[in-house]
Amino acid sequence: MLLAIPKECRAGERRVAASPENVARLVNMGFAVTVESGAGFAASFSDDAYRAAGAGIEADTRALWTAGDIVLKVQPPDTHPALGMHEADLLRQGGTMISLLYPGRNTDLVQRLQARKATVFAMDAVPRITRAQKLDALSSMANIAGYRAIVEAATCYGRFFTGQMTAAGKVPPAKVLVIGAGVAGLAAIGTARGLGAIVRAFDTRPAVKEQVQSMGAEFIELDVQEDGDGGGGYAKEMSPAFIAAEIAMFAAQARDVDIIITTALIPNKPAPVLITDEMVASMRPGSVIVDLAAETGGNCALTVPGQAVVRHGVHIVGYTDLPSRMAPTASTLYGNNLAHLLSDMGGGTGFHINLEDEVVRGAIVLHEGTLLWPAPTREPSPAPAAKAPAAPAQAPAPAAPATKPATPKAKSGHGHGAASDVPPGSGSLIAVGVGALAFAGIGLVAPPSFLAHLTVFALACVVGWQVVWNVTPALHTPLMSVTNAISGIIVIGGLLQVSGPISDPAVVLGGLAILLATINIAGGFLVTQRMLKMFSRD
Ligand code: NAI
Repeated sequence: MLLAIPKECRAGERRVAASPENVARLVNMGFAVTVESGAGFAASFSDDAYRAAGAGIEADTRALWTAGDIVLKVQPPDTHPALGMHEADLLRQGGTMISLLYPGRNTDLVQRLQARKATVFAMDAVPRITRAQKLDALSSMANIAGYRAIVEAATCYGRFFTGQMTAAGKVPPAKVLVIGAGVAGLAAIGTARGLGAIVRAFDTRPAVKEQVQSMGAEFIELDVQEDGDGGGGYAKEMSPAFIAAEIAMFAAQARDVDIIITTALIPNKPAPVLITDEMVASMRPGSVIVDLAAETGGNCALTVPGQAVVRHGVHIVGYTDLPSRMAPTASTLYGNNLAHLLSDMGGGTGFHINLEDEVVRGAIVLHEGTLLWPAPTREPSPAPAAKAPAAPAQAPAPAAPATKPATPKAKSGHGHGAASDVPPGSGSLIAVGVGALAFAGIGLVAPPSFLAHLTVFALACVVGWQVVWNVTPALHTPLMSVTNAISGIIVIGGLLQVSGPISDPAVVLGGLAILLATINIAGGFLVTQRMLKMFSRD
């Protein structure tokens, strides 16, 4: 199976869909790879580096597009300036393409690809779930954008970030305010802290407070109690009262801080304006605002998308191509995301499209010309634009089989009821009834002490299952600590039981409990170790 990697044709785009490092990995996965000559130049990757990684080089753009079984791109297809034709028309009839696509706002493009009977995946539509983190291109790019935002701020800001006491005099540290502590915001906090600034952050989702504090920043809190969590790691729109209180707080902060990084985003909504003209005017001359939300209108009223301007003596950076400004890293991380998706889909030898896979179902936009987007979701996703009068959004999604809910929670709802005459909820009632009968049966024959233990055990199972199932991904690490503590108690309980003959069932069960709890503890440490390694600097 041949992967074709064209040179990005959008003006100013420096990224490429795969670095030589990614190509070597794709070749190992069983793919043949052809890269357009010069595709990696702007990201500092030479044709020779791609050749050394096992790729073929093709100078003819049309030939490259036609030859590829799967075309890998960064930007959505666009009009090719040199060829004077649209890239969607370069894709062969029935061909497959993976790129960022933003189908909600590129409805014409989707229709164009549909006309070519194409199969198309949008990397921006990958669901934000734990399992899909490794192929979450939006997060990869937001992480880079957060880092670069601080680099841009440091370039405009004519002073040190860190405080210094020198023979020539004392220099105070810079004060940085980060609004929105999502992926980009956290990256900005980490980078600003690394440079020695005093960092404050605010987010409407209280769940991020601990993450902010663990990075050495201060989390600012409002008196107004309102949780901005919209599920799936995204925010929901806040009430006017909350926004008003927030703006009042930012007005006070603006007079105090030197740099403001804004990243506030609510999926499918224009960016909330949180920094007003007056606030900019109140900032010290030479201060900097980097508005990452520039593309969706900007969090600052004076942002000019795509440009850096000076207003009231304050630098306002509204670049919308921050990842592209770090093209080598951005290309490699994006290429990794693509490689993970391709690997999950079977690699070069077993490539197949499994619409039952939640990640594939989320990312697929067209399947052989059939519109499958937006995928039925149970969590807010950045892709679907419900209020947009977009043709694809209104068209019936023909992928009926793929609409099967993927979670036990969803399965117990509507999907199940449609398949049988049993009203929703009666299944669990029957289960409770059967359980109660079994309990009564055991009570008739077993000693009372056994029944007491069984009651505690059954309740622990139900409560434990409910608690663990409903924990948000952000709390998985503390959850792991708690389960490790519980496992420790189980080990002690098991140790108390194992003295006696091996024929005693209590001894066998005690041994089994020790074994399983030990596996859980060791596994917990192993996973924690791997997570820590991801953040270690060497
Ligand atoms: P995210 O969804 O992970 O984070 C956004 C955060 O803003 C969330 O934590 C949310 O709770 C918070 N938020 C929402 N409304 C708020 C409010 N009123 N006040 C305070 N916080 C609020 O998004 P991510 O991935 O971190 O991206 C952040 C922004 O950066 C987005 O606008 C994205 O489009 C943009 N971006 C810009 C790039 C550029 O080149 N300029 C490149 C990549 C991303």
